[in-house]
Amino acid sequence: MANPLKKRYTVTTALPYANGPVHIGHLAGVYVPADIFVRYLRATGREVFFLGGSDEHGVPITIKARKEHTTPQAIVDRYHAIIKKSFEELGISFDIYSRTSNPTHHATAAEFFTKLYNEGKLIEKTTKQYYDEEAKQFLADRYIIGTCPHCNNEKAYGDQCEACGTSLNATDLINPRSTLSGNVPVMKETKHWYLPLNEYEGWLKEWILKGHKDDWKTNVYGQCKSWIEQGLQPRAVTRDLDWGVKVPLKEAEGKVLYVWFDAPIGYISATKEWCEANHDSNWEKWWKDEETELVHFIGKDNIVFHCIIFPCMLKAEGSYILPENVPANEFLNLEGDKISTSRNWAIWLHEYLEEFKGKQDVLRYMLTSIAPETKDSDFTWADFQAKNNNELLAIFGNFVNRTVVLTQKYYGGIVPEMGKLTDYEKEVLEKIKEFPALIGGSIEKYRFREAQAELMNLARLGNKYLTDTEPWKKQKEDPEAVKTILHVSLQICACLSVLCEPFLPFTAAKLQRMLNINIHDWNEGGRTDLLKAGDKINAPEYLFEKIEDEVIAAQLKKLEDIKKANQMANAAVEPAKEDISYDDFQTMDLRVCTVLAAEKVAKTKKLLKLKVDTGVDVREVVSGIAEYYEPESLVGKQVLMLINLKAKEIKGTLSHGMVLMAENANGELSLLQPQKEVKPGSSVR
Ligand code: MF3
Ligand code: ZN
Repeated sequence: MANPLKKRYTVTTALPYANGPVHIGHLAGVYVPADIFVRYLRATGREVFFLGGSDEHGVPITIKARKEHTTPQAIVDRYHAIIKKSFEELGISFDIYSRTSNPTHHATAAEFFTKLYNEGKLIEKTTKQYYDEEAKQFLADRYIIGTCPHCNNEKAYGDQCEACGTSLNATDLINPRSTLSGNVPVMKETKHWYLPLNEYEGWLKEWILKGHKDDWKTNVYGQCKSWIEQGLQPRAVTRDLDWGVKVPLKEAEGKVLYVWFDAPIGYISATKEWCEANHDSNWEKWWKDEETELVHFIGKDNIVFHCIIFPCMLKAEGSYILPENVPANEFLNLEGDKISTSRNWAIWLHEYLEEFKGKQDVLRYMLTSIAPETKDSDFTWADFQAKNNNELLAIFGNFVNRTVVLTQKYYGGIVPEMGKLTDYEKEVLEKIKEFPALIGGSIEKYRFREAQAELMNLARLGNKYLTDTEPWKKQKEDPEAVKTILHVSLQICACLSVLCEPFLPFTAAKLQRMLNINIHDWNEGGRTDLLKAGDKINAPEYLFEKIEDEVIAAQLKKLEDIKKANQMANAAVEPAKEDISYDDFQTMDLRVCTVLAAEKVAKTKKLLKLKVDTGVDVREVVSGIAEYYEPESLVGKQVLMLINLKAKEIKGTLSHGMVLMAENANGELSLLQPQKEVKPGSSVR
């Protein structure tokens, strides 16, 4: 295999903030690839510890709690439960899914800090920091926003600009404002502890720029290089906040560890926690043994923290191994738009699981096939449907189904003997043997898309073989050849059931149940004798189902509705007009009128011609509401009208007056009507 891997692995996944559920962007970038990697490692006999957990500190959580008039603990309890359950249901095979509000974590993070402090690895600095006098609070991280000095984004946060990805200090922001009160903050003195990243520059150059030039992904290496070359500054690892891990120093009353200091230590805490629960005293083998390979799965916004800051922390501490690789992904978009939690522009995992019961593997397959491994990529529902119907169902499912159904039909489910092989069959059997190395090689290079495409090639090979040999046409004249064909096809099904497990674990289990086998060794996935003649297989079950157009249309409608809701929420309200006098108001003759007849104005999309009883007369008026009201639905309705607007000819009708309506932010019109029916001609004041 390409790189000989080590025997033991510690595989971490970015700890999602517990202030919202996880969406397909998180999955495609981090959790699905990590799970494929880990399942593969286990199948190849490596010892693996696979962890995840909720990141429960940080300012966004306290801001959300404040908004909802509840406590940060209540917020993280809610989302931790949702996230944990949805990962489980998707088959993300964590050994532990922990959380950073755990006592074990608080103790571990505090100890880590203490060790750095005692060994003089931190610098102490009293500086002036932004303070909100109204809220009586220092403004850490996301409590402050302003303009990014690098890209001019006006909504950059005090710790990071999300538009350009730059990590910032609050004092870098132009025009800083408090997110608590909106006020311009004042400067006030406070003492904090800093990790002098600048002292590690030389080491980082050796370790990353020289040491990992060839094995880290170019997007990851590139970001690290530009960071290191920009020059590193000391970075504060404490904050003036009350939610987080308390700084374990007497003089640090009211201060907590910076969330990006405590969270990655959460990886270590989770390991300890699992070991404690499993009566294993040796948690250190996962973190302090050179024979262990540490791999961090993250999204691109986490690169600096996992490639520079956390490694510097580990290096400063001194007894830990460093990450061997950090296969960060780029971002996934949704229907051409950036995924955004605040705009609700996402497909949420817990909702998908509700709406697509039993289709976990379809999502896993889809997300792997479009994984943003080298550049941002796009999820579309049309593509999701096509991947299911034209690949999973038409190739993989169809091949397995035909094989199992024919085996049942011709042999009562008993695997037939393999007879004389044609050259084609010899070739097919040879090819099968290549797949474990082919797929495994790609997985080891963190090319999961490519790996899964190879898996599908194996299914394609089987499907083509069956289509080419047409056993259903030969059963009468050449039953011996048919036995061979189905024997070979069953071997391919068995290989698929082993090799698809990292990608499609639910399908793998179902298929193994169908074939009545139980094989988890990766290399067996290339064997052509996994089933013996005479073995009995079980009844066919469908592996995949067609996804109908209506299902996709419903999802698109849901997104459309979100878009509309956002447009409305964002639309600016027109500025107020100048005041007028009561007499000015009196010049408008506003009346309630009853619609007597309504019809579309020919050759127009928007216009209706209404005949109305104004109380003073019956007249015609043209109104631009045809897109929102059927003419019949208006007859007999009462509307408000300005009746003394000068008459004007519109499309051949003399329109006298104007029907009043409210216009929504998205241009949608809505008629105004009296609450109760009144006499036509009643005036409006
Ligand atoms: N909560 C962070 C995010 O969602 C990731 C934390 S990863 C860890 O971006 F290393 F800090 F744990
Ligand atoms: Zn920026």
